This record gives sequence, C-alpha cells and structure tokens, in this order.
Amino acid sequence: MTKYYFCTVIERGTDIQKAAELLRGGACVAIPTETVYGLAAHAFDTEAVASVFRIKERPSFDPLILHIASQEQLAALVTDFPEKARILAGAFWPGPLTLVLPKSSTVPYNVTSGLETVGIRIPDHPLTLQLLWELNFPLAAPSANPFGYVSPTTAQHVVDSLGEKVPYVLDGGPCTRGIESTIVGFEDGEPVIYRLGSLPVQEIEKQVGKVRISVNQSSNPVAPGQVKMHYAPLVPLLNLPLEEALKTYRPEELAVLVFGESPEAVPSQNRVFLSAKGDLYEAARNLFGALRQLDTLPVKAALFSYVNNEGIGAAINDRLRRAAARHS
Ligand code: TXA
Ligand code: MG
Repeated sequence: MTKYYFCTVIERGTDIQKAAELLRGGACVAIPTETVYGLAAHAFDTEAVASVFRIKERPSFDPLILHIASQEQLAALVTDFPEKARILAGAFWPGPLTLVLPKSSTVPYNVTSGLETVGIRIPDHPLTLQLLWELNFPLAAPSANPFGYVSPTTAQHVVDSLGEKVPYVLDGGPCTRGIESTIVGFEDGEPVIYRLGSLPVQEIEKQVGKVRISVNQSSNPVAPGQVKMHYAPLVPLLNLPLEEALKTYRPEELAVLVFGESPEAVPSQNRVFLSAKGDLYEAARNLFGALRQLDTLPVKAALFSYVNNEGIGAAINDRLRRAAARHS
C-alpha cells in the first residue's frame, strides 16, 4: 500500500474515498466535526500518529482523542465503561462529548502520551461519520491548528495555518458548534469535567447529577492540552472597557470583539462580531473565526468582554481567558 508520510500538496473537497485511502496509507487528513476541524491519522499506525504531533508541533506529552463511528467499537479500545459513562454516551453521542476511559492494549501509547487512559468520542458530522464507517480503525485527531494557536472552524482556517503540511482537507463547511468537545473523565466511577466545551455542564448534570469540575490552568495539568495560554491570536487581547483603552490607544489602533451592542467609537472595519444579537450559540460558532480575523487587522490591541457564564457561555469565557493569557 502507498505510504504518504511526506506530503506537500494541499487539496480540499468532499471525497470520502480519497480521504479514506490517504488515511489507510498513513497520511494525515483534516476532517470536519461539529466542534472544530481535526487533524486525523490512523490511530493504530504509530508513524502516522507521530506525524500528527510533527505537523502541529505539538509536545509529545499532550494526548490525542480517538474518533469512532459507533459505541460497538469501544469494547476493543477500553477496559472499563462505568455506568455514568454509559449514560452520557447514550445521551450525547454522536456529539461534543469526549469520555476519558482506561485504555486497552490496542491503543498505542503515542496516542495517549503514555497515559493509561484514552479520550474517545463519536463526532456529529455527516461526512466524518461516513468516513469513520468506511474505516476499520479509529482516527486519532487533535484540533487541526499549530500548537497554541486558535482552533480551525472552517476548511479555509486549516489551509491558512497548516498550509502545505496536510495532503487533503475534507471540507464539511463551517463547524456548527465552534468550540471543542467537553472532556469528562471518571474518578471512582464519578464524572469529572477536565475541559469545558460545547456540551454545557448543565446538560451533563441533567443526566448524571452534580459533577465536579477540574479544569486545570497550570502548565502541567491532568488534561495536558489545558495549558493556560492556548487558542491565542497574535494581537494582544485585552479585557478592558473601551474608555480605559482609549487613554492608551487611538480608536483606529483598536479592534473590538462585539457581543451585543456595537462600539461606535471604533472604526467599523475593526469591529469583529461574535454575535450582534447577543446569542451565546452564535458567539460560540463565531469565536475562533473572530480571533483569527483579529490577526488580519492592522491594530495594536483587541478588546473583549466576558459573556454571561451560563451554559455554553462558560466555555466561551474559558477560551477568551486562555486567548488573553498570552498577554497577561
Ligand atoms: O472537539 C474536540 O475535542 C476536537 C475535535 C477535533 O474532536 N479535538 C480536540 O483535540 O480538541 P485536542 O487535541 O485539541 O484537545 C484534546 C484534549 C487535550 O487537551 C488533551 O490533553 C486532552 O484532550 N486529552 C486527551 N486524552 C486525554 C486523557 N487520556 N486524559 C486527559 N486528557 C486527555
Ligand atoms: Mg486543540
């Protein structure tokens, strides 16, 4: 079979057979999901998995998530499936929920960065589900961005930041959720949230009762990808009222992430919309695209406010906090 580890031509389209053939041959393919685009590789091909880390320049201590087509595939991948994990999988798969479970020997250690647990989810995107059904192996896929930069929510974002490093981007249109999956692990059978994400905590609690949240901010966390500075645009992102910022910057030197009311003092081309009508789901969908857009503007700083912390708002605020952390 052809091996494609080194590739220089990027192409995009909706050809599932082409994507499947590349993945079987050990190449990486960018895939759409409802949350963000992933950079996928054959999970049981350790060279292919290693190339994901190389392409993203991701540190080897930061484990990848497995993507599967159906719950039947789980049996071969994990050694335990606690009752509450079953309930959550039943309620939310396919969907933006990653379950961290004890791994079986089938899962290579370079997927889990040496951990005895593995993160797994069934993504909710028709193209990627079809692709996963074509394959007889899971796909290991982190978000398809260079490590530390903003996650991609369109095929164009993948092309923009991974350029010629990926041979094929399966183009599934803009991601409908826009923020990564919520990650849930289990300690003594009880769910613990390791990463806030597209599935609101309240939805999880409706299924399994109160859950503990253990979202790490340090640089050596349980979910290692949860480093404080993440999702960061290059332009400084400041949580400052406009009046304050105008003491330091001229209006044309500022951009603003707009949620609700639009700040008239800033030139209109520098107003980047999360949601004009103040809708949290729309803001989640637009967030990463908006952060990328900031980097195209000739400004010195970008202002933002935190949104209402309810539901998906908590994940939006988490990403804003991390995006701003580079400059705080
Ligand atoms: O929505 C998503 O989850 C997207 C799409 C592509 O599925 N994927 C994604 O992958 O966000 P990534 O690699 O960017 O983030 C995965 C996170 C990392 O923070 C990693 O540390 C954590 O999952 N993770 C993976 N396996 C883990 C494990 N065994 N224990 C704890 N955390 C784990
Ligand atoms: Mg990521």
